[in-house]
Amino acid sequence: MTLLLEDRVALVTGGASGIGRAAALAFAREGARVVASDVDEAGVKETASAAPDAIAAFAADTSDEEQVRALVAFALDRHGQLDVAFNNAGVMGPAGALHQLDLDSWRRCLDVNLTGVFLCMKHELPIMQRQGRGSIINTSSGAGVIGAPGLSAYCASKHGILGITKTAALENARTGVRINAICPGSTDTPMLRGAMATGPEVEKLILSSQPGGRLGTPEEIAETAVWLASDRASFVSGASIAVDGAAVAR
Ligand SMILES: NC(=O)c1ccc[n+]([C@@H]2O[C@H](COP(=O)([O-])OP(=O)(O)OC[C@H]3O[C@@H](n4cnc5c(N)ncnc54)[C@H](O)[C@@H]3O)[C@@H](O)[C@H]2O)c1
Repeated sequence: MTLLLEDRVALVTGGASGIGRAAALAFAREGARVVASDVDEAGVKETASAAPDAIAAFAADTSDEEQVRALVAFALDRHGQLDVAFNNAGVMGPAGALHQLDLDSWRRCLDVNLTGVFLCMKHELPIMQRQGRGSIINTSSGAGVIGAPGLSAYCASKHGILGITKTAALENARTGVRINAICPGSTDTPMLRGAMATGPEVEKLILSSQPGGRLGTPEEIAETAVWLASDRASFVSGASIAVDGAAVAR
């Protein structure tokens, strides 16, 4: 049986935890050589240790252009190509009504979630354009499609990701590079568990707003990333795909 990502090189940010960790492992299972990156160096090394022949770890903060440049150069030096990039690193950002947020925490959230994705795409695209082949997948959110009371910085960053995903997809429609976004719903990861731990009312709200009565798993999001990364999705570009058990369908 042919593996979906045989002979492909894939970069994953946010690879230490949750969705990024599951995606690094899923890409490796499908035959890709993977560079997993995270600002959490110990965590991303632990991810790589789960499939040491396939996954290499590289510590980088995606909000810092020099670190992103070094990350992409590491992947290219190590493997000579870059076919797939899952730009997934993100933070929840400050919680509270918009008029109560302080500027520094707003900026930090936008720096990581939106500027980080911009910087990754900026340095990944020229390589993929030269190859005439590539698939970029950005992690947005249900909060990229609908409002998220109490999370306006996060919501703005995730809406912004859809804007740059669509724009880059159009700019690259004739280059062989496809660019898409995944909008996960509430997914059982340390980020979501952290949010639910802030109070029983938050946990209740999250659990009660799942149409199917359950959270998603990181592996369910990773499966969509695998498909988007593969040639099976050869005519899919500029799309934002909800993987959320119908949460934003209502
Ligand atoms: N879990 C959910 O319910 C959910 C829903 C929608 C979207 N998302 C998005 O999915 C993505 C992954 O989230 P997750 O739930 O797996 O969370 P997570 O906290 O388990 O994993 C996020 C990872 O990103 C890393 N990271 C944070 N800032 C970074 C930076 N500046 N540079 C590099 N790495 C950094 C963290 O160290 C962490 O390992 C995020 O973009 C998040 O916004 C999550």
